[in-house]
Amino acid sequence: MPVIALVGNKGGAGKTTLCVNLASALAARAPTLILDADPQRSSLQWRTLSDSDDAVSVADAVDDVADAVNRVSGEYRYVVVDCPPSVHAAQTGEALAISDLALIPVQPSPLDIWATVHIEDKIADARERNPGLQAMLVINQLEPRTKLSQLMRQALAELSLPAAQTAIRRRMAYRSSVLEGRTVLDQGKRGEAAAEEIQQLIEEVVNL
Ligand SMILES: Nc1ncnc2c1ncn2[C@@H]1O[C@H](COP(=O)(O)OP(=O)(O)OP(=O)(O)O)[C@@H](O)[C@H]1O
Ligand SMILES: [Mg+2]
Repeated sequence: MPVIALVGNKGGAGKTTLCVNLASALAARAPTLILDADPQRSSLQWRTLSDSDDAVSVADAVDDVADAVNRVSGEYRYVVVDCPPSVHAAQTGEALAISDLALIPVQPSPLDIWATVHIEDKIADARERNPGLQAMLVINQLEPRTKLSQLMRQALAELSLPAAQTAIRRRMAYRSSVLEGRTVLDQGKRGEAAAEEIQQLIEEVVNL
């Protein structure tokens, strides 16, 4: 049962957005659960907005990430953990201790790239207890025409953590779908390009 944690040291990097979209796309392939480990409980809130019985389940794991994972092991093929916006939060540490993969969304901005230094340290710490932990940066809110976005790959190449080939672009479908507890996958034509990049990212993740 691969456990995938969305982590980072910046608020608003896209952890919850990627969490609900990736988990929903994974759920179409195999039983998948979201564990919300962020005291803001945004993934849980997203799920309460959904009127679809088929939407991926979200469980509260704010007080007990490891216990929650143990409780559901065997029931799900994938577990996706939405973490708080700090690597120093207890929940992030707990999630990294039991995860197979840390996915780290990073926006194309120098401040966000600098903040990844803390994540590199935290991942290195977590690997002492959890040596199998893999980690991958994911560029989020890419705007391909801007100079900063073009420089992003270069900047990320200098970090010790690998970056996913798939970058997630800044698209309205990611914002509007959340309002209805939905994802870019069920937005038809409006979400087509976004759904495609989410599937591409999943291919990278499941083939790691
Ligand atoms: N690829 C994207 N395109 C457009 N908007 C996006 C994208 N990714 C995230 N957003 C928007 O950016 C904002 C922050 O995203 P999100 O809440 O997913 O970040 P977060 O890392 O979970 O934040 P927090 O640290 O507070 O938990 C939201 O308004 C979200 O809709
Ligand atoms: Mg969030």
